[in-house]
Amino acid sequence: MIKRPRPKLTFFHGMVSCAPIMLELFELVRRVAQTNASILIRGETGTGKELVAQAAHELSQRNRAPFMAVNCATLTSELLASELFGHVRGAFTGAVRDRQGLFARADGGTLFLDEVAEIEPEIQARLLRVLQEKTFVPLGATEAVSVDVRIFSATHKALRREVEQGRFRADLMYRIRVVPIFLPPLRDREGDVEALAWHFLDELNRDGGRQVQSFTAGAMKALLSHDYPGNVRELRNVLEYAFAVGQGPEISLGELTPELRGEGPPPELGAKTSDTAVTREKARILDALDATGGKKAQAAARLGMSRSTLWRKMREHALS
Ligand SMILES: Nc1ncnc2c1ncn2[C@@H]1O[C@H](COP(=O)(O)OP(=O)(O)OP(=O)(O)O)[C@@H](O)[C@H]1O
Ligand SMILES: [Mg+2]
Repeated sequence: MIKRPRPKLTFFHGMVSCAPIMLELFELVRRVAQTNASILIRGETGTGKELVAQAAHELSQRNRAPFMAVNCATLTSELLASELFGHVRGAFTGAVRDRQGLFARADGGTLFLDEVAEIEPEIQARLLRVLQEKTFVPLGATEAVSVDVRIFSATHKALRREVEQGRFRADLMYRIRVVPIFLPPLRDREGDVEALAWHFLDELNRDGGRQVQSFTAGAMKALLSHDYPGNVRELRNVLEYAFAVGQGPEISLGELTPELRGEGPPPELGAKTSDTAVTREKARILDALDATGGKKAQAAARLGMSRSTLWRKMREHALS
């Protein structure tokens, strides 16, 4: 059972961190929220882009007006246009009654365009017009409607590259990216994997099911050596999984997901590692460690395995 460290955690509108890089980001969000500037939030999946957007709205002077969100990647162009601008009855087949769009419903508040890089050129042009003129025409209508909406956007892509490659309009990028905010991946947030692991342990204990006090040393080591391509969401899911499948007061290595334990997908049925394969693997690992001067991260990269896999295999082969 390992001892719990006591890092100084900062809580910010549903986000938790102890990493200096994140505390700076929270301050930036706090300052920018007070203005009317459009914000573009960029970051990998699960880094908290939506949480930042909600925080900025809550901290803004628009917080009594609605915060409306739309995922631009999941709708066809036609549906997205009708979602954003609304339509009048008979605008297209199936438009059996008038429908207010998100711009109208978010009037006075904030509209969050999630996965903004996925918007088709035709809708990009219409969006630009709304942002420039602060008016829009619902599908099938003749009169323009005035709105006052602040735009937040999010993407996991580098929007500038999308512009360079002709997929996104430069003029629209400048409109929506007045303040760019970059959310670092979890692996770049110093101390956060450990701090968040303990934080989520507390949170999951409060659900009232299994009560966990700590982690085994092996489990914590595996948690700390994983890369988290799914970022904070992935870490939380891993712990939720461990709570669900295991029992007792400690989270052990065996309760972590196969990725965390450094295993690939389960081996094919009947495939058994022969003795010669074991010897060959041991030799390859020794070669890689030798070639990299004992640097495990580099050796793992050379071998095409994660650091945690290498670490586990070294133990299996009794290489310290
Ligand atoms: N700093 C944090 N502290 C605590 N929980 C967090 C933090 N960041 C993210 N989370 C958790 O991860 C989940 C995902 O966050 P969010 O939906 O904001 O990510 P996202 O960047 O929008 O991801 P996607 O690109 O997949 O939409 C949240 O619901 C929350 O449970
Ligand atoms: Mg999101």
